[in-house]
Amino acid sequence: MISDVITNGINGEPKIPGDKSISHRSIIIPSISNGICEIDNILKSEDVMHTLNAFKSMGVDIEENEKKIIIKGKGLNSLNEPKNKIYLGNSGTSARLLTGLLSSQKFNSVLIGDKSLSSRPMKRIADPLAKMNAKIYTTNGSLPISIEGSNLKPTDINLKIPSAQIKSGLLLAALNTEGETNITENKITRDHTEIMLESFGANIQTTHKNENKIIKIVGQRELIPNNISVPNDLSSSAFFIVSALINERSSIILKDINNNQTRNGIILALKKMGAKIKLSNNRKNNNENICDIEVKTSNLNGCELGPEFADLMIDEYPILSIAASFANSPSIFRGLRELRVKESDRLKLILLNLQNCGVNCKSENDDLFIYPSANYKIRNNLIQTDFDHRIAMAFCIMGTKIGPLHINESSSINTSFPTFKNELNKLGGKVF
Ligand code: S3P
Repeated sequence: MISDVITNGINGEPKIPGDKSISHRSIIIPSISNGICEIDNILKSEDVMHTLNAFKSMGVDIEENEKKIIIKGKGLNSLNEPKNKIYLGNSGTSARLLTGLLSSQKFNSVLIGDKSLSSRPMKRIADPLAKMNAKIYTTNGSLPISIEGSNLKPTDINLKIPSAQIKSGLLLAALNTEGETNITENKITRDHTEIMLESFGANIQTTHKNENKIIKIVGQRELIPNNISVPNDLSSSAFFIVSALINERSSIILKDINNNQTRNGIILALKKMGAKIKLSNNRKNNNENICDIEVKTSNLNGCELGPEFADLMIDEYPILSIAASFANSPSIFRGLRELRVKESDRLKLILLNLQNCGVNCKSENDDLFIYPSANYKIRNNLIQTDFDHRIAMAFCIMGTKIGPLHINESSSINTSFPTFKNELNKLGGKVF
């Protein structure tokens, strides 16, 4: 894919797809509920389809039509043993959440994935599950994972790594486990699983003690079916938000965007940089906060963000780094270690590709330093993505300012935002 410089700004109202995290959960939780659920606006991307196909392969009846999917839940403990290994493509969320869920089912299963997913750490979910007596066998800490389904032991677990995927895998394991499991986290991670489980009638309660959040879940209460309308994805919106901020003569409006406070770091960070971003029409849907977002071309200042921002926006550092490259002063983003174990080593690729674009930047101890300049002299216009969708989309936005940039292996964008290129071009982008 090639992304070239645009001249007349980014203008209009892009259609942002459904939220990826909520879409995965909108398949998993209804599939183990006790009845029929209608899901509206689900993200039809490769990652989410891997979750959907996994549940089909375990006997869940899922009807897909143009806009909605209809899931006939089988209950907490009635999934069928899949005939084949479950292939999860590039999707870390599917892998971590399913590892938890399947460890407490009554059959054995094997999870496999593509090259990138097969190199990502899975002990982080297998180890805490082992405390519940789960029988999980990783391959040198990664996929393929073999899971021997069994009755688990309710346990108190402190989350060592701040990760919604780990927390959610544990919650899904605890759901089908007799007794009380308590999960304690001392850093914020996205809470879509807790919100959705509560709305499906799970016996789940959250309390806060000092800096900690404790989630108590009493297992084996059947889930009541519920309909879900998936809000649009803030992480996908971020590419359009930054493109409007850094390009002259731009003004966009994004509708029905999820504005969950465990995930809105990108809005807070950009506002701190002086971005003209206005949130309006705040409302709730299925207990998730939703709003509309208006964005206009802005003169951005650099900023320093502490590691607490990483908890609220880990997926947004690639595109935030592009914004920082067009600010009028340097930026420092601290505490980005988790970026190294995403779909790629994102810290490495942000640095490599920014440097190839002529941006002066460095990392020290997982902190990222960006020193912007008024003009960039491209050293190499081939962007290396290692099949990482967020690196590909972020540097596509970079191309709108300094292109043409050639984005390698850009098909990875289909994992989260299949209509990205069309939407960008509708607003004035030049991507082909
Ligand atoms: C996700 C959690 C985050 C995020 C990922 C989606 C989720 O991962 O980066 O894109 O849906 O729970 P971690 O749990 O590894 O932080």
